[in-house]
Amino acid sequence: MAREETIRYHESYYSSHKLFEEGWLQKPDEEVNRLVSFLSGRSNLKVLDIGCGVGRNAIPIARELKLNGVHVDCYDVLESAIELLHGYAEQFDVQGSIFGRCIDMDAIEIEPDSYDAILSVSVLEHSSSLQGVNRLLEQIVRGTKVGGANRLTISTDRHVTACDTGEVIDTRVETPMSKEQVTEMLQRYYEGWLVDRLSLVPYKEDLEYGGRLVTWSCVDVSFFARRVV
Ligand SMILES: C[S@@+](CC[C@H](N)C(=O)[O-])C[C@H]1O[C@@H](n2cnc3c(N)ncnc32)[C@H](O)[C@@H]1O
Repeated sequence: MAREETIRYHESYYSSHKLFEEGWLQKPDEEVNRLVSFLSGRSNLKVLDIGCGVGRNAIPIARELKLNGVHVDCYDVLESAIELLHGYAEQFDVQGSIFGRCIDMDAIEIEPDSYDAILSVSVLEHSSSLQGVNRLLEQIVRGTKVGGANRLTISTDRHVTACDTGEVIDTRVETPMSKEQVTEMLQRYYEGWLVDRLSLVPYKEDLEYGGRLVTWSCVDVSFFARRVV
């Protein structure tokens, strides 16, 4: 049920909003600049974007690091997102750096010590289970080279109520998690890393959801860390 809802929402959103023009696709994740600066002195870079969508983050990374030589693996469960990603990669002249693949994050296997950077922005909560989230975090940590970096955001404590009646509405996220739970997991998996950011970003907005006006609130756990050993 939650999986179908995630697919329905993103298919509809990507087909009705253009990259870098509208809604949350208007601009890249706020830590993309930090990631690019961090990688900019190096060459022959390998980057992995898990749950890349249509390339909101992968395309700016590829554009900024193109002259360094960069290979960006882009994974998403939606075939339509990967098709759009390849179209945008051509439009922004980075088709030689973007490698899209349709795959479920629960099935991803990452070769150890293989990426200079791995990012996953607003995706892990869509894993099918807590076990899946743990498995993927383990893969991400192991898959990052010494000297590499990770950028993650994870949506937690989601709460949605109807504006007219105050009724609580089920938003059907696959793996609902609390900010405390995610903070604890990150501290555990990233022991020994240099954590540049582990912050809680509250979000609240009145928006239309399932044909109703609702108040949507959640807390995004925002994380950036570098592997030093
Ligand atoms: C909120 S969007 C974020 C997209 C992109 N990271 C960004 O920041 O623009 C979540 C993305 O995760 C993808 N996704 C959801 N469940 C997934 C799964 N099980 N495996 C891989 N990708 C998934 C969706 O298709 C969607 O593109």
